[in-house]
Amino acid sequence: MAKLPSSFVVTSSVVKDLRQSLLAWYDRHGRDLPWRRSRDPYAIWVSEIMLQQTQVKTVLPYYQRWLAQFPTVEALAIADQQTVLKAWEGLGYYARARNLHRAAQQVVELHQGQFPETIEGAIALSGIGRTTAGGILSAAFNQAVPILDGNVKRVLSRLVALDRPPSKALPQLWQLSTQVLDPDRPRDFNQGLMDLGATCCTRRQPNCPACPWQTHCRAYDLNLQSELPMSDQRNPLPHKQIGVAVIQGDNGDILIDRRRKEGLLGGLWEFPGGKIEPGETVEACIRREIQEELGIDIEVGEKVMSLDHAYTHFKVPLHVHLCRHLSGDPQPIECDEVRWVALGDLDQYPFPKANSQIIAALRTLP
Ligand code: ADE
Repeated sequence: MAKLPSSFVVTSSVVKDLRQSLLAWYDRHGRDLPWRRSRDPYAIWVSEIMLQQTQVKTVLPYYQRWLAQFPTVEALAIADQQTVLKAWEGLGYYARARNLHRAAQQVVELHQGQFPETIEGAIALSGIGRTTAGGILSAAFNQAVPILDGNVKRVLSRLVALDRPPSKALPQLWQLSTQVLDPDRPRDFNQGLMDLGATCCTRRQPNCPACPWQTHCRAYDLNLQSELPMSDQRNPLPHKQIGVAVIQGDNGDILIDRRRKEGLLGGLWEFPGGKIEPGETVEACIRREIQEELGIDIEVGEKVMSLDHAYTHFKVPLHVHLCRHLSGDPQPIECDEVRWVALGDLDQYPFPKANSQIIAALRTLP
């Protein structure tokens, strides 16, 4: 499979943390659902097909009735189609029922009634695609096979702040789902991932404060959780996003720069920073911009605030972090001048409006 562009790379220590935090969250908050109490691949398969386009609460009574009426794959295989469709009545998308019925006959005739334990074998059955196969094999056999249903696409797209609609990045999302999957507890990990999408990382009004992945979520970091994932009717991301550094030197002075006279807000002073590249974290952006624009190394620390910087015709979100100067003598590479200034002297310099909000926030810091 194609390698992910570097902007997708999730380091192994982050992967470890994602696994631990999701599993701990699932242990506490995972839903107790009847198919999760079963290890019978047939029962799990039925649940996965019913859940394909239908919510859990709608599926529950159908699932119980179905297993009472067709308790085994053999019972389903020998039923007549009218009986099968009658049992599905009201769930909609009836091709699912016809395929499930046909696939039950395939399992009986080709696999002696045993659900195939390989992804290829599972996908060869009617009505089973890659994500359904992953859902069944991980839940029934605890196999480390990834999933990528609609909820999981949304969770992963937010995690990396995907700069395209998920439909334009399916190989990358599959690779990410494979990479984060916990090899020791794949069943619980995949179930947890589905629950995260269904109950926390919801399409509207996601509950980020309750999310086990908040600290690693690039969408949250950029306050884009409500805009992502992007829809297929390509509405570009609403704004460019800017990372801003409040860099303190050893004596507590703060580094500011004077914008080039020719440009927008020319001649005004500002805290240095620049545009966040797609997939880049705020921290990585700030470190890179400061190296490129001032030629120094810094440590990027706590976030001070996020705010909108209003230019005349548009707003740009700024993400401001406290930073510490590590090494190098600041050079005015992309500005007219740089200067170390005491916090108390900052307001003697003309700043654009957003920067005065930053100065006010700095004064309230301990
Ligand atoms: N949607 C698809 N599979 C599911 C599962 N196993 N639990 C909850 N929701 C699901």
